[in-house]
Amino acid sequence: MTSVSTSPSQAAPVDVPEPAEIRRWATEQGILILAHSYQDGFIQECAHFVGDSLELARYAAEEDAEAICFAGVHFMAETAKLLNPSARVFVPDMEAGCSLASSCKGADLATYQQHLEQKLGKRPVTVAYINCTAEVKALCDIICTSGNAREVVDSIPQDQPILFVPDMHLGGWLNEVTGREMILWNGACQVHELFSVDTLRALQAEHPGCITISHPECPKAVRDASDHVLGTAGMLRMVKQQEGQTFLVGTEGNMIYRLEREAPQNTYIPAPGASCACNLCPFMALNTPEKLWACLQERGPEVTVPAELFEPARASLQRMLAL
Ligand code: 13P
Ligand code: SF4
Repeated sequence: MTSVSTSPSQAAPVDVPEPAEIRRWATEQGILILAHSYQDGFIQECAHFVGDSLELARYAAEEDAEAICFAGVHFMAETAKLLNPSARVFVPDMEAGCSLASSCKGADLATYQQHLEQKLGKRPVTVAYINCTAEVKALCDIICTSGNAREVVDSIPQDQPILFVPDMHLGGWLNEVTGREMILWNGACQVHELFSVDTLRALQAEHPGCITISHPECPKAVRDASDHVLGTAGMLRMVKQQEGQTFLVGTEGNMIYRLEREAPQNTYIPAPGASCACNLCPFMALNTPEKLWACLQERGPEVTVPAELFEPARASLQRMLAL
């Protein structure tokens, strides 16, 4: 079965070599290119490794690269630096942030943790979704990603109160599937929050028998209208096991490129937002092929982590990887 051509992925780069040539050149220069699945298709093709947040963190920790060019958003590059301190980490665009990371400032989190400690008579364990700054990672006890959040929460003793930051939708889903009553920070992904459940239901009616997969960053109404709630790596695993199936995909639009590339035997339809036909992360989109190529050649801009945050932030990440 052919795939519908709904991928927004192929940019038309100007004065940039072909992806294979970029990757070859980077290899020669000792630079490892990592890309998140929400990157433009051209950038995914340039990468030595494409993955979800968890796979990228593990990959960065295990590779003994002298330099990493991270095509993703800032917190991901920061994570790579924390897990591989001896590597220099470059990003195509320093402004590639994340609405979740910016919703939770370290000072606000510290104040809230103190408030909860007074109110509950004991300090809650703080679990932070990896989509947060190094400052927040340094203040929390353990990190999780969408790929391991359930296991991380289940690893915390039942009698222990938990504060979950910064994604209220992922936190709400975790409360449902683990039976916990975690206290949730009020943050959201500005991309996933815009998915429209009405349009999703209309698409489901148009494609009887389709399977709807949505990311846990989606609001409850969208999750409830889905057959499976999965992180991006989980989505990929699921579609690879199917043949000739139609999937409605409730996550960032470039994920379709990855799914079509790795499991072309199915059809993928992006779940639309309330006011647009696609759901592209504006922060991920700041990384263009031109900026990637310039970043490799200039070896910059470079991501650094303030010395006082380094060890506590790294420790929170390592507790996750040790699970
Ligand atoms: P995963 O890579 O864990 O699926 O998360 C998606 C995301 O929003 C990253 O910013
Ligand atoms: Fe952040 Fe959402 Fe973009 Fe992911 S898709 S980087 S959570 S704004």
